[in-house]
Amino acid sequence: MKFDTPAKENPIDQGKIVGKPVDRIDGPLKVSGTAPYAYERHDVVANQAYGWVVGSAIAKGSIVSIDLAAAKAAPGVIAVVTAETAGKLKKAKRNTAPLLGGPEIRHYHQAIALVVAESFEQARAAANLVRVDYAKEKGSFDLAAVKDGAPMASEVNGEAAASKVGDFAGAFAAAPVQHDATYTTAHESHSMMEPHATIAAWEGDRLTLWTSNQMIAWNVADMAETLGIPKENVRVMSPYIGGGFGGKLFLRADALLAALGARAAKRPVKVTLPRAMMPNNTTHRSATIQRIRIGTARDGKITAIGHEVWSGDQPGGGPEAAAMQTRALYAGDHRLTSHRLAVLDLPEANAMRAPGEAPGLAALEIAIDETAEKVGMDPIEFRILNDTQVVPDKPAPPASADAPPKKEGEAKPPEHPPFSQRQLVRCLRDGAERFGWEKRKAKPGQTREGNWLIGYGVAAAFRNSLLMPSAARVRLDDKGVVTVETDMTDIGTGSYTIIAQTAAEMLGVPLEKVVVKLGDSSFPVSCGSGGQWGGNNSTSGVYAACVKLRELIAKKAGFDGDDLEFADGEVRQGGKSVALAKAAGEEGLVAEDGIEYGDLDKKYQQSTFAAHFVEVAVDAFTGETRVRRMLAVCAAGRILNPKTARSQVIGAMTMGVGAALMEELAVDTRLGFFVNHDLAGYEVPVHADIPQQEVVFLDETDPISSPMKAKGVGELGICGVAAAVANAVYNATGVRVRDYPVKLDKLL
Ligand code: MOS
Repeated sequence: MKFDTPAKENPIDQGKIVGKPVDRIDGPLKVSGTAPYAYERHDVVANQAYGWVVGSAIAKGSIVSIDLAAAKAAPGVIAVVTAETAGKLKKAKRNTAPLLGGPEIRHYHQAIALVVAESFEQARAAANLVRVDYAKEKGSFDLAAVKDGAPMASEVNGEAAASKVGDFAGAFAAAPVQHDATYTTAHESHSMMEPHATIAAWEGDRLTLWTSNQMIAWNVADMAETLGIPKENVRVMSPYIGGGFGGKLFLRADALLAALGARAAKRPVKVTLPRAMMPNNTTHRSATIQRIRIGTARDGKITAIGHEVWSGDQPGGGPEAAAMQTRALYAGDHRLTSHRLAVLDLPEANAMRAPGEAPGLAALEIAIDETAEKVGMDPIEFRILNDTQVVPDKPAPPASADAPPKKEGEAKPPEHPPFSQRQLVRCLRDGAERFGWEKRKAKPGQTREGNWLIGYGVAAAFRNSLLMPSAARVRLDDKGVVTVETDMTDIGTGSYTIIAQTAAEMLGVPLEKVVVKLGDSSFPVSCGSGGQWGGNNSTSGVYAACVKLRELIAKKAGFDGDDLEFADGEVRQGGKSVALAKAAGEEGLVAEDGIEYGDLDKKYQQSTFAAHFVEVAVDAFTGETRVRRMLAVCAAGRILNPKTARSQVIGAMTMGVGAALMEELAVDTRLGFFVNHDLAGYEVPVHADIPQQEVVFLDETDPISSPMKAKGVGELGICGVAAAVANAVYNATGVRVRDYPVKLDKLL
């Protein structure tokens, strides 16, 4: 099904099941410990052996020699795989550094060997006997030190890395109010609950993987490319995933080495990355340095806005897209953005929840707060004054050939593309009222409860809503049961549930009559889980398949025309009704289709918006910061399930508090690795850090986004949170911290 004109009224609008806060279908499995995660699949294939990954002990250089004799002779060892013995491997496009290093070493803990043994303990013990001689080379590990020589990135998210509108330098210099400051964000680790894990089994030249991955089709393609085998020979299953946050978008070492280990051992092999290997072996979010300049007129209107970003990655990597939202969030005639990319020999940088916007807004939304203060305006009023309903950095797309000819005297065509919907102002106003913003003192350091200094902070949130093709297969059987199959994943987001709701609504059956099967490459290719596109696109694919199934059912029932009603397990027309079970017959009915998009996302900017409010208390003597209250008001199209959506947003808000106050991969700039590479040293918030969170969704539908009229919230929820916390800390203390995380040593 092609979606290229705004959605009309359709069965989803009934809202009998879609839009209801139903419990997660996979919830009982997950809380009872019975959801089968990859590493626990003892049942799927017999005779599994265990692989232990050996990581490089240097960051850059090469392996001179590697002595495997002692490891091979150790008890229980079946095989040892290295780059030398693995056969020819190609690096897949989506991996920046090879997943199996050697002789060249590209980063610390890059995998250099896999030891396969009868037991986990034997594999681990033998791995400790692998002796490696390295030739170390000098590397580049410190973003601040190499920032000045960093070239412009070649592109960012398919757009130019730099943008210019008007005369930024002139307008900024002429502005009566100027703000110019530099902000930094830290390297961050996804730190999802379930480590990367894979069981691999070969049957002849066919490979089967039980793994934990967000994007099944990417995983299949990249494994096939790496091994040089046809895609058809790779089957990937990933039905349950214990979190990803972008860290499981790509093929990683666990999967490749399990496949290589299984080939060498001639039996199935399972591999997990121990927690302490995850930060340096897998991907992370790059640190950023961001210079922001904002010039305004006396009345507070922004005349010039500039956002320059530096980040770092391995050679051949990409930048952190932290200035992209600045092209679209606030008005202003003179504009400048850029993304420079330094080569770092740290582990590979890549997407982590709201890549770009999360660190970008962490900086921009402090700068906006600082500018509002200089102008002498309330920060909410300042944001509202500078709202825009078009994307000021982009020219409007050319009028299409079939547009009606322009009449004389008709308004000028828009110069910039409009948003499909943008209710940021409503989010800010609604949130201010609910939060009690009027109690905030504009001057910092004015509210005190005992030793605690109290402050309020606000930030705007912006995250794009991306369109991705997504397909599904839907079956109806003679019991009236509907089975949905798609390679979509559920990374803890609620995909099982919203897909079941979609099919139930479309076919007029109760939820109990729907079975959802996900995460298997033998199913139709979906959008997968990433970039907060999963909810809207995967359900749209299911919608398309259900439209087709409805046609098949109608035909079998002997109905014609489009005035059909699907309800209570029946299809009805006029006064007649036929039970779905009967229409399906013994053979059943199967339909497969997907959603594909035209150019609606070129004509309209499709984005999601929110306002975040935070109250903090800062100990006047120790600088300890406690978040006391958080509120998010979100505008993100139709909310398919307010319960799962709320869970996404409160999880993201929690992650935002981590970015604000705790999370920082500390770099050893001499040796070139992340020192705090486990959850003892890499701190993330726990329940006790987050006392109260409230989430409000504006009641909206976006007919331009998809037939579901939905967008996404999983990444919107983190965007802006760090700045709202930092702004609240400033309001409490009068100390402006521009370097994340905002730790107590920076407040004293
Ligand atoms: Mo997301 S960072 O694209 O999983």
